[in-house]
Amino acid sequence: MEDDQVIILGIETSCDDTSSAVLIDGVVRSNIISSQTIHTTYGGIVPELASREHIKGIGPIVRAALREASTSIEDVDAIAVTYGPGLAGALLVGTHFAKGLALMYDKPLYPVHHIEAHLYSGYLEDSRLGYPSISLVVSGGHTSIFHVTSPVDYTVLGSTCDDAAGEAFDKVAKMLGLGYPGGPEIDRRGCLGDSAAFDFPRGLMHDGTQTFSFSGLKTSVRRTLELLKSQQREIPINDVCASVQEAIVDVLVHKTLHAAREYGVRIISISGGVSANSRLRTVMQKKAQDHGMQLVTPQIGYCVDNAAMIAHVASMRIAHGVHASAPSFMISPKAMRTTS
Ligand SMILES: Nc1ncnc2c1ncn2[C@@H]1O[C@H](COP(=O)(O)OP(=O)(O)OP(=O)(O)O)[C@@H](O)[C@H]1O
Ligand SMILES: [Mg+2]
Repeated sequence: MEDDQVIILGIETSCDDTSSAVLIDGVVRSNIISSQTIHTTYGGIVPELASREHIKGIGPIVRAALREASTSIEDVDAIAVTYGPGLAGALLVGTHFAKGLALMYDKPLYPVHHIEAHLYSGYLEDSRLGYPSISLVVSGGHTSIFHVTSPVDYTVLGSTCDDAAGEAFDKVAKMLGLGYPGGPEIDRRGCLGDSAAFDFPRGLMHDGTQTFSFSGLKTSVRRTLELLKSQQREIPINDVCASVQEAIVDVLVHKTLHAAREYGVRIISISGGVSANSRLRTVMQKKAQDHGMQLVTPQIGYCVDNAAMIAHVASMRIAHGVHASAPSFMISPKAMRTTS
């Protein structure tokens, strides 16, 4: 390796994906993700099982990431690891592994906020579109809109007051018996159904704030399914999927564009697992274009949890002269930051 290259090792274990990545001068050279399949039969993530799977996977996955990037731990300049939010046991595995490496090989360590990493993941492979931006983070546990002014400065404008968008997808999928996680299957079936078949509620869509609410949608779907069953009618699963997806997408797009107009911003970004949704990507792209705005989206592979986005945050911090942390930092399972 050339001496002036900046090599960053990223580690992510906040939930049910064990991931490690290597970025060299900001370019992703490896991004290994091992998604735990052990939870599928339980309809949700079992925290204790997640921790055990991370313990089994972390060593081999970090080694694989280094090998694929043709580098070694000795050559790494800094280590980045997710410290929260997430499952406590899962975060402990990743942070302890990273701290051990940092102490043993005398490397600077950057604890990274998982949602901050999602937030900037759209810029991971293409930083041509810059700032300020209005950024929608839509994942399994979070739905928030941010005003982002630089790679290290942002403010949260609003979040969900109940369920996250990904949670809404997953809960509806569970009601329909579609397995976990439900978002990808609702996306697939939604493309085959009629989105006007059911008029599900668009919570808080026109309230002029950046606060979201998806619990009413979930209740409405449950009542609709109960009614159909009581009338002994067949459930048109694809139509329900299309209609639910349309309701969620309508709210996400409307609020993001509203915030962009309010802040006079012409760049918007979407990120997090739900940003993989095909309908959301299509509608957001079309509306952005209609309003003369530009859209930043991560590649599908960077929408869900991955260590490349963790290393990317550290890479931007190093570029902005931000110092590493002492290895004594703690995990923060419930951390929700409102500013950078
Ligand atoms: N194509 C899709 N359409 C809709 N939702 C999707 C799609 N693909 C993934 N999802 C949803 O994305 C979520 C997972 O995203 P992600 O991995 O970012 O969340 P998480 O890490 O579990 O939560 P958080 O990042 O908030 O801690 C799940 O709720 C899943 O259903
Ligand atoms: Mg996530």
